[in-house]
Amino acid sequence: MTDKFADPVQGFDRYAVVGNPIEHSKSPFIHAAFAKQTGQDISYERILAPLDGFESTISNLIARGFKGANVTVPFKFKAFNLCHHLTERAQAAGAVNTLTFKNSQLYGDNTDGAGLVRDITHHLKIVLHNRRVLLLGAGGAAEGVLQPLLACELKHLVIANRTIEKAEQMRNKQVKHFEQLNISTFADLKDSFDIIINATSAGLTDTALPISNSIFARDCLAYDMMYGRETPFMAQAHANGAQVADGLGMLVEQAAEAFYIWREVRPDTKPVIEMMRAL
Ligand code: ATR
Repeated sequence: MTDKFADPVQGFDRYAVVGNPIEHSKSPFIHAAFAKQTGQDISYERILAPLDGFESTISNLIARGFKGANVTVPFKFKAFNLCHHLTERAQAAGAVNTLTFKNSQLYGDNTDGAGLVRDITHHLKIVLHNRRVLLLGAGGAAEGVLQPLLACELKHLVIANRTIEKAEQMRNKQVKHFEQLNISTFADLKDSFDIIINATSAGLTDTALPISNSIFARDCLAYDMMYGRETPFMAQAHANGAQVADGLGMLVEQAAEAFYIWREVRPDTKPVIEMMRAL
């Protein structure tokens, strides 16, 4: 499914994930599983774009007849700037992870937030409505999920970040939900939360966040957007009795949303999450 290099007129549509680095990306497995499950004849490849060559990589894909692409680190902001058309959620995120190529136009969407919300509500079966939510981090990953989280009518949401100015900038952009939204440094966090989402990249370097144990409410959900290993945040959450989840469900759900945009078919994500977990 993933390695067909024929011309698109020969019967199937081509898609790709573009990033740098890209060899670690699990998206080809996920989309191959979706395609098999739904009977869609597509191919899906990893494409490494040079750090200064994202635009030309996309032009090349369009010239070769690709129908769309997922975009990953570090190109989500560049993808946003390239698009002729943007969905509301892509505009809110200021970043694009799903591109559709149609009539020489680029359509941009961002499915990350929808993926996170669906994993929490559908797979983990946790209600977001009227809950106290803490978002750790104010980088691209946090920006991508903020608007869809706020749309869930939370009790309130606090953004905590090492660099407080970045949390402040994120808050200032959210005119509509300004009242629901507060910012904090890690050190000032004392009150407990029902749902804590780690959107920092501190786990990549096995760095613990300077957060107090008091923030973990009894039976709270601690969600780390990273997957594949236990981060110090997850270990701390475990030690404080939280229900802990990694970002694998979000990864599969954001892919399912992209697949739906391209193919207008919604795959069943549960078996695919289970398959990915077993890899
Ligand atoms: P991403 O796209 O993964 O969000 P990013 O935009 O570089 O990447 O943002 C990384 C986030 O992780 C930021 O919130 C960053 O905090 P700063 O804004 O203060 O840089 C946070 N982060 C990274 N390493 C961290 C660490 N060791 N401790 C605390 N926060 C960290």
